[in-house]
Amino acid sequence: MARVLSEAQRETFARDGFLTIEGFADPADCRALIDRARGIVDAFDPDAVRSVFSTKRQQHTTDDWFLSSGGEIRCFFEEEAFDDTGALRQDKHLSINKIGHALHDRDPVFDRFSRDRRLAGICADVGMADPRLIQSMYIFKQPRIGGEVVCHQDSTFLWTEPKSCVGLWFALEDATVENGCMWGLPGRHREGLRKRMARDGQGGVRMETLDPAPIPTEGEVPLEAPAGTLILLHGEAPHRSGANRSDRSRHAYAVHVIDGACAYPADNWLQRPADLPVRGF
Ligand code: FE2
Repeated sequence: MARVLSEAQRETFARDGFLTIEGFADPADCRALIDRARGIVDAFDPDAVRSVFSTKRQQHTTDDWFLSSGGEIRCFFEEEAFDDTGALRQDKHLSINKIGHALHDRDPVFDRFSRDRRLAGICADVGMADPRLIQSMYIFKQPRIGGEVVCHQDSTFLWTEPKSCVGLWFALEDATVENGCMWGLPGRHREGLRKRMARDGQGGVRMETLDPAPIPTEGEVPLEAPAGTLILLHGEAPHRSGANRSDRSRHAYAVHVIDGACAYPADNWLQRPADLPVRGF
């Protein structure tokens, strides 16, 4: 496998737990994803499911729409999408928080973007023996109502033994402090995983505490990213993103990769249907 990352980039990733690569994705390819996501929302009937996705209140814990989405393409609403009467506050296209979690396997446009050979090379560069695409998400971060995502580590949600999760996050539009870019904590990926989310065996999930120490916030840096930027994220790197109170959307696409050489427990929240086994590049 040809090397994609330079020595300096690999060192930065090992040191910080994240790596920003500007200009990775072609603007036309970013536009194709934005257009395709619009098509998916066009076809979505908001009355069919009024699931509100919130990382803050963990409302999705008993939400079957979420827990059975591992092999599907499903839309999830913003927390502030509905008014007191249950009506949408703004157009449905401006009310969806994200689409998940198998875009990369169920949609040809997302499949092509996600299985770029350079990404396979990057996964090899950071030490993965058998990279497999386990999850994909289209994140809208809508103007005005785009909710914050509280500080977390992705391995909390995608546990393997040993841990192997790596995130590939793409800015499809410019991400700035004003419209809710990601924030990272350089070097904190070396301080261990704090929590693990697992299925509770009763149709819901529970959060297990692995280390009760809070994640410090000192030294936090904004990861502003022009459209086309790839941010590579270590599974134990703490990160968050702010709310979007601006008038500009901040569309992003994220793929999470795990190492097929590691065990994937049956009580992870994300389970794939038997007819859609997790695949590599
Ligand atoms: Fe994350």
